[in-house]
Amino acid sequence: MATRKGPFKGRTIAVVDDLSLDEQRYLYRKARELKEGVLAGGDGAAFRLNDRDYSAYLIFMEDSTRTRESFRNAAKFLGARTNVFDAATSSFNKNESIVDTIRMLYGYAADSCFVIRSKLEGVCRSLEDSIGRYAELTGRPRPAFINAGDGRHEHPTQEFLDEFSFLEQLGWRDERIHIALTGDLYHGRTVHSKANGLRVFKEVRVDLVAPGPLGMPPHYAERMKSNGFEVKSYESLDEYLAAGKVAPIWYFTRLQLERMGEAVLEKAPSLRAAVTFRKDMLGLLPEGARFYHPLPRDRVHPTNPTFLDELPLNGWDGQSANGYWTRIALMGMVSGLLGGDFSGDQASPETFVDDFVREAPVVLREKPEVKVGIRPVDEGIVIDHISSGEPVAEIWDHIDAVRRMLKLNLRSSHGVFHNGRGSFKGIISLPEITSFGERDLKKLAAIAPGCTLNLVRGSRVVKKYRLDMPPRIYGFEEISCKNENCVSHPSHLEGVTPEFRRKGPPGGESGTTFVCRYCEREHRFREIWDV
Ligand code: NCD
Repeated sequence: MATRKGPFKGRTIAVVDDLSLDEQRYLYRKARELKEGVLAGGDGAAFRLNDRDYSAYLIFMEDSTRTRESFRNAAKFLGARTNVFDAATSSFNKNESIVDTIRMLYGYAADSCFVIRSKLEGVCRSLEDSIGRYAELTGRPRPAFINAGDGRHEHPTQEFLDEFSFLEQLGWRDERIHIALTGDLYHGRTVHSKANGLRVFKEVRVDLVAPGPLGMPPHYAERMKSNGFEVKSYESLDEYLAAGKVAPIWYFTRLQLERMGEAVLEKAPSLRAAVTFRKDMLGLLPEGARFYHPLPRDRVHPTNPTFLDELPLNGWDGQSANGYWTRIALMGMVSGLLGGDFSGDQASPETFVDDFVREAPVVLREKPEVKVGIRPVDEGIVIDHISSGEPVAEIWDHIDAVRRMLKLNLRSSHGVFHNGRGSFKGIISLPEITSFGERDLKKLAAIAPGCTLNLVRGSRVVKKYRLDMPPRIYGFEEISCKNENCVSHPSHLEGVTPEFRRKGPPGGESGTTFVCRYCEREHRFREIWDV
């Protein structure tokens, strides 16, 4: 077996951004080359891996027709050994951990890629870590993990085929797109992936059309805006059409009844009516309009009804066929067959500078300066400015959390005091402690950002550190993701180490918001702690 290399070999595609924009463009170029070549009578030889030692494992723990079948056919076209697992026929139902199953399958093939659909959000990212480590340990090639839809999170390969279809519709011009997204924007992962996927166009206008309970989750709408998209929201198709300036590209989605809670489910008929296209709306569409839908559509209540099927508006049939071409190209890339002619920017791993500890100047004073409670501190550590300026109840809460998390069960005193700026702060003094380890410093920074740590010797502050929110919080037992569908949620016992990334620079609101590395759910900083 030839050892293949290349920029895409063994890459995991858990979210759209696992490919840089240049890499996404490369995928679209390759898929187009393949599609046009084969449709013109070619045999697509450049896209045939023809390696029976390369295994494509398709693992579908949630229902699927199109995604599964297009991947199965794509793997066959490629000439890979292809194995399909459905939840119904595999031992995932016997409570087996995913990692155990994948390790076993990984052992069967010289080289492999795994296409995984699961309710567990972030499952591909966690497998990339754990099986990646195992691969390194055993000196074997890293397998690629491709997310074929994880819960309500993302569906990157659907996104790639959608963008490919829009580009095709727009004559491969990527200057601008004006698109309406409608249906169930709350639960639908295909529309969530658009927050990044649409970046392939230079200018993006997105009209979000969905009533309240089906609205786009705010963090995806925010991401669209921060990606420079012009975003407008409407509650129903009627409201949208009455407002004028209707998009020529519409993306319908079905109501994801299986993901809805009781309260929303009860309202499904009226919610659906707000996003279902009617015959009388036809005259209000701009010329050349085209409708897309990831499919399946509801047999009884389709949001893009069957009277549209035979009209030139129907873009979804071609879109679904594009799933085949784009998935062949993607598997060709991660298997290492394609990529030799790639040039451009590669997606680079995030880097973190642990700059949360800053030494602050010490002002020498004559008198013992740190006096907490009844006694001045002559030797020890004083944690000052805890939650300065926050409501007193919260300061107490944070003092309490710091003491519990750092297991400060020793002689000390603490309290809430004036901060000299008209509000309050918390102070903990620890006469028995003379040094503070790196991990504890990080914990302290992550639970009481903005506090200072003072080292006191001979009644004087000899060193002072100001602690900011760390860029990354992981490796602590006391943290967990609060999204029950996340692979790192404690209920799933998959042994995934929780990890969070700070959303923005320290200071503003986003500097105290943390994003789960796996499911990307946002948490306020206190929310990630279990104590
Ligand atoms: C979508 C999915 O699974 O997220 N379907 C698909 O992959 N073609 C959309 C859906 O199920 O509604």
